[in-house]
Amino acid sequence: MVRNVAGVVAELDPEDVHLLSGVEQGMRFSEWVDRGKLPDFANLSPEEVDYRLNRCERRELIERRTIQYEGYTLTDKGYDVLALHTFAERDTIDGVGAPLGVGKESDVLEVRSFRPLALKFHREGYTQFRAVNREREYTSDHNHVSWLYTARKAAEREYEILMELYPDVSVPQPVDQNRHALVMEKLAGVELASADFDTAQAVGVFDLILREAVLAYEAGYVHADLSEYNVFVSEDGVTVFDWPQAVPTDHDNAAALLRRDVENVARYFRRKYPAEAPEVDATRVAKAVADGSFESVRAFVD
Ligand SMILES: Nc1ncnc2c1ncn2[C@@H]1O[C@H](COP(=O)(O)OP(=O)(O)O)[C@@H](O)[C@H]1O
Ligand SMILES: [Mg+2]
Repeated sequence: MVRNVAGVVAELDPEDVHLLSGVEQGMRFSEWVDRGKLPDFANLSPEEVDYRLNRCERRELIERRTIQYEGYTLTDKGYDVLALHTFAERDTIDGVGAPLGVGKESDVLEVRSFRPLALKFHREGYTQFRAVNREREYTSDHNHVSWLYTARKAAEREYEILMELYPDVSVPQPVDQNRHALVMEKLAGVELASADFDTAQAVGVFDLILREAVLAYEAGYVHADLSEYNVFVSEDGVTVFDWPQAVPTDHDNAAALLRRDVENVARYFRRKYPAEAPEVDATRVAKAVADGSFESVRAFVD
């Protein structure tokens, strides 16, 4: 799905982008935007709106539903197009490449720029929106929280945290952010989950990851979703990514979350390297996470 978004962007006229922006504007007030309001939101004549709606619907950038009125809403692809369009206008990216990964709530793809970068589209809220809408005849728009808002908040949050952590902590270098999308350094290496080490390496890598958890704590954050799927390993060391859910260290649960993070990674190493890495062992780690405090983890790393 993501792959052909770039092709779509290339085909669009400025008026198509106006129409999409108009639907986006309207979605601040309701999930399904009344067709009658689109000329105002999009700043296009009614005839132009008709023509553009047709083009955008054919490309699956918007969806139509007749409720008490004829309504339109952006699809995830339509929102992707708006973000890509903005990045291209800002010269952040020149083109879009292959997918790099599909997460639980994201799509990540390679983008071209002065160097290869990674673009992450946040999808938080979108799946729930789809599920709710399949069941309901029409939506009540009172107090609605649009998935656009939820996904955008997640991208803003992740970007903000990366800006604070980089370069003190080994995280992808943040480059730009717009709507639900975030552009960052493309990581070399492989996910920890698909890396294989010998004894010495396993212990070393485990320590490097703990070190980053401690450095992040010092910089003010606990990752809160640390696992073998959110760490990249390469010749140069480890990089911890996927930060939108991180919590500040003054948060009530920060200590408990840090402990859970460390336990997650320790459990992974124990399971995968039971004989090869005896040092990565329950007692050794238990000491570090005994009370989940920063000092105890730090003592463990030092
Ligand atoms: N900066 C990056 N460079 C290369 N690959 C990445 C980068 N960021 C994410 N990925 C890939 O995309 C996948 C999903 O990204 P992630 O940030 O973990 O999102 P999610 O919250 O959906 O898990 C990752 O598991 C990884 O394989
Ligand atoms: Mg992830």
